[in-house]
Amino acid sequence: MPTIAVTRVIPEAGLALLRDAAEVRLWEDDLPPDAAALADLLRGCDGALTLLTDAIDGDVLDREPQLRVVSNFAVGYDNVDVPAATARGVAVCNTPDALTETTADFAFALLMAAARRVVEGADYVRAGKWQTWGPLLLRGHDLHHATLGVVGFGRIGREVAKRGRGFDMRVLAYDTHQDEAAARELGAEYRSLDDLLGAADFVTLHVALTDETRHLIGGRELGLMKPTAILVNAARGPVTDTDALVAALRDGTIAGAALDVTDPEPLPADHPLVSLPNALVVPHIASATYATRDKMAETAARNLLAVLRGERPPFIVNPEVLND
Ligand code: GLV
Repeated sequence: MPTIAVTRVIPEAGLALLRDAAEVRLWEDDLPPDAAALADLLRGCDGALTLLTDAIDGDVLDREPQLRVVSNFAVGYDNVDVPAATARGVAVCNTPDALTETTADFAFALLMAAARRVVEGADYVRAGKWQTWGPLLLRGHDLHHATLGVVGFGRIGREVAKRGRGFDMRVLAYDTHQDEAAARELGAEYRSLDDLLGAADFVTLHVALTDETRHLIGGRELGLMKPTAILVNAARGPVTDTDALVAALRDGTIAGAALDVTDPEPLPADHPLVSLPNALVVPHIASATYATRDKMAETAARNLLAVLRGERPPFIVNPEVLND
């Protein structure tokens, strides 16, 4: 039987599949293994089911030359050095389709919550401040008929666009790869990033984190946005320059931000983004529904087992390592 490391407790739907086919070495702590503990866990393993909190680089892989697959429990795989894995013939897998709509739902929830000040309203009631109905109390911004700018028009971005159209929003899209037919079908119009930033009332980020997208939204880009605009990030924290974002929220360059992801992650409790009244931060939970986390667990397990069986996995990032 092969030996598989699983770097955190994942839903049983995935663990059961793995246990049927392999010796499973499970990291049971709530917090991720540090580098030394990860190295211990991976020792002698044929496959690893990893999370976005595990850094898998060439050094980690060099210590385990028998390792054949790193199956990430996430759509994003910026925690894995894919070229290093490819150079060593190690398959890297991810879990895209499982979470597309769930993540889009959540990005939209963030957008609505920030626009209509839902969390501020709840905090107000909890703090015992609610004394009367007020004509000026907690006014926010309309979503309906507003302009939604979707940065990264891939699977998740398109689902967010669809939700925006349901609210009669005008949808602008930016992507380095343009699919005109998909945009037409969703009633979206491609724009340059600068044009989109200048025109959108809501800017929502759905790009993968790469060298090209790191700090894609910095001080200059925030400066192009409307002072009434809200930025939503349910992609990866470093797509936004955190210091520039804090400055833009403080000085009113933009109206607000709703963030599922931050840089750093986790955000320290005394970080300015935690206390700024126009920042809404939640702990990277966009794909966290019971059904979707089950699907992600199953997909990650099936990907991993397929590679170990010499079969083509449902989702592989570097198919060039397969000899089929
Ligand atoms: C979560 O952030 C993921 O990439 O799946």
